[in-house]
Amino acid sequence: MGPCSCCNPSIISCSSNKQSVMSLAASLLLFLAVLQTQAFDPLDPNGNITIKWDIMSWTSDGYVALVTMFNNQQFRHIEAPGWALGWTWAKKEVIWNMQGAEATMQGDCSKFHGNIPHCCKKDPTIVDLLPGVPYNVQSANCCRGGVLSSYAQDPLNSVASFQVIVGQAGTSNKTVALPKNFTLVTPGPGYTCSPAKVVKSSLFPSPDGRRHTQALMTWELACTYSQFLAQRAPTCCVSMSSFYSEAIVPCQTCACACQPNISQSLLTSEPMCVDSEDQLALSSSSAYPRARAASIIQNQPSPHLLYCSKDMCPIQIHWHVKTNYVEYWRVKISITNRHVKNYTVWNLVVQHPNFNNLTEAFSFQYKGLSPYGPINDTAMFWGIKYYNDMLLEAGPSGNVQSEILIKKDSMFTFTQGWAFPHRVVFNGDECVLPPPTSYPFLPNGSPNSRATFSLLFMQCLSFALFVILLL
Ligand SMILES: *[C@@H]1O[C@H](CO)[C@@H](O)[C@H](O)[C@H]1NC(C)=O
Ligand SMILES: *[C@@H]1O[C@H](CO)[C@@H](O)[C@H](O)[C@H]1NC(C)=O
Ligand SMILES: *[C@@H]1O[C@H](CO)[C@@H](O)[C@H](O)[C@H]1NC(C)=O
Ligand SMILES: *[C@@H]1O[C@H](CO)[C@@H](O)[C@H](O)[C@H]1NC(C)=O
Ligand SMILES: *[C@@H]1O[C@H](CO)[C@@H](O)[C@H](O)[C@H]1NC(C)=O
Ligand SMILES: *[C@@H]1O[C@H](CO)[C@@H](O)[C@H](O)[C@H]1NC(C)=O
Ligand SMILES: *[C@@H]1O[C@H](CO)[C@@H](O)[C@H](O)[C@H]1NC(C)=O
Repeated sequence: MGPCSCCNPSIISCSSNKQSVMSLAASLLLFLAVLQTQAFDPLDPNGNITIKWDIMSWTSDGYVALVTMFNNQQFRHIEAPGWALGWTWAKKEVIWNMQGAEATMQGDCSKFHGNIPHCCKKDPTIVDLLPGVPYNVQSANCCRGGVLSSYAQDPLNSVASFQVIVGQAGTSNKTVALPKNFTLVTPGPGYTCSPAKVVKSSLFPSPDGRRHTQALMTWELACTYSQFLAQRAPTCCVSMSSFYSEAIVPCQTCACACQPNISQSLLTSEPMCVDSEDQLALSSSSAYPRARAASIIQNQPSPHLLYCSKDMCPIQIHWHVKTNYVEYWRVKISITNRHVKNYTVWNLVVQHPNFNNLTEAFSFQYKGLSPYGPINDTAMFWGIKYYNDMLLEAGPSGNVQSEILIKKDSMFTFTQGWAFPHRVVFNGDECVLPPPTSYPFLPNGSPNSRATFSLLFMQCLSFALFVILLL
């Protein structure tokens, strides 16, 4: 089948058979899922973290640079324990001092007498300072423990910066050598960074905006994220229900992992889960601390305890089609945390063909994302500050929910699973949807060609965009 045959109207009109349409849709979804393992995210085509170095002054043996990280990603943030930025010096550079961040290892400074540098390593790793450090080590936009908000959710906190005084380096724009091999871990892998490139010098406006000072030299690089590099297993799944059908479609079994044998996993280091508070107490006293210590050494996110489920996903998103009005319809979205971990910030991105007419989200904040101009079928949701912006650990309070009201558009139908989302992303990671054939159907189950067409049309459209953008 050629890539565009799905868009051929004759195929759509021939597919009166529900099964064939659904399997076509399923194979397209599968194909999309395969493509999504690449760094490019069609919901956020310009998403990256840009890192800029501005040389503010030359010193007797090097320079003072202001390093700024801009998170341009609409919906992917960096959670605690935060970012760690690394690079390799091109020559014999050392870091004399830093403000607003620190190198994790000082390295071997035994060659130095008198003044000892802050870091002598060839490949330093820099981390943010914690909140509340003394003023004399702070800089603007620092000291949030490495937490970096996404651009759409909190633009003010999507920037981090620190100052670095570099020695044994060039002292003019001709002799300075750009650092190489930048890495960004959050912690754990996921980001790939481009080489640094000299760009036009940055301008810094004075507070009254009447004068601009200029960096002596500026270089820039961009780091892009890929879920494929970060972790192969998904971290969330979607379940569904509707007022017009008895069936509750659960998360796919083994969506994130298969349920381990608890008594066995207590003895080995296999991933495990707990069924109750008792087991939680038991497990935290035995195998788990070891796994945690190992994860810190390997600079991996530390594993958190998970409540047992058939899908073993830390996060479950439930989409319930609740009410049908004449001009509107209402959906209830619930996010359940099965992790013994508090998500201090969370966000949810949902793609649904009717979101161009999203009218209101009652208990979440929302913003439309329109990665391709006029097609605004994607919305991002996050919590209301001090109300549900924090998703608490698994247990009775470990969930957030909101109802949303959508104005029906001309494609509207309850048939063929049209009322359910096409793509769901939690904290920047893809969620596993149930297979399209299992979506709740209307009781009479009569196939509706218009709905079939619109579902296929949306799949075709996103597929076509993919092909165009990948070329
Ligand atoms: C990084 O993001 C910015 C802002 O969206 C964009 O202008 C720039 O082209 C991107 N850079 C790369 C290398 O993707
Ligand atoms: C270096 O500085 C000189 C003047 O001091 C300027 O002409 C030149 O464009 C600068 N080069 C770069 C790469 O910034
Ligand atoms: C940068 O990384 C590449 C590939 O990992 C390696 O071949 C190269 O030697 C590194 N460069 C430096 C300066 O460390
Ligand atoms: C779990 O492992 C224990 C010990 O190996 C075994 O006795 C038990 O039958 C297993 N349970 C299941 C459901 O496989
Ligand atoms: C999560 O937050 C609650 C309330 O702030 C706190 O009692 C609990 O200890 C936290 N849990 C974890 C795992 O940090
Ligand atoms: C899509 O655009 C319409 C009209 O510009 C706007 O009313 C609606 O809220 C947008 N939808 C989303 C999800 O942003
Ligand atoms: C839905 O939104 C589109 C624009 O995104 C607008 O043209 C259309 O009139 C809206 N439909 C309804 C029923 O409001």
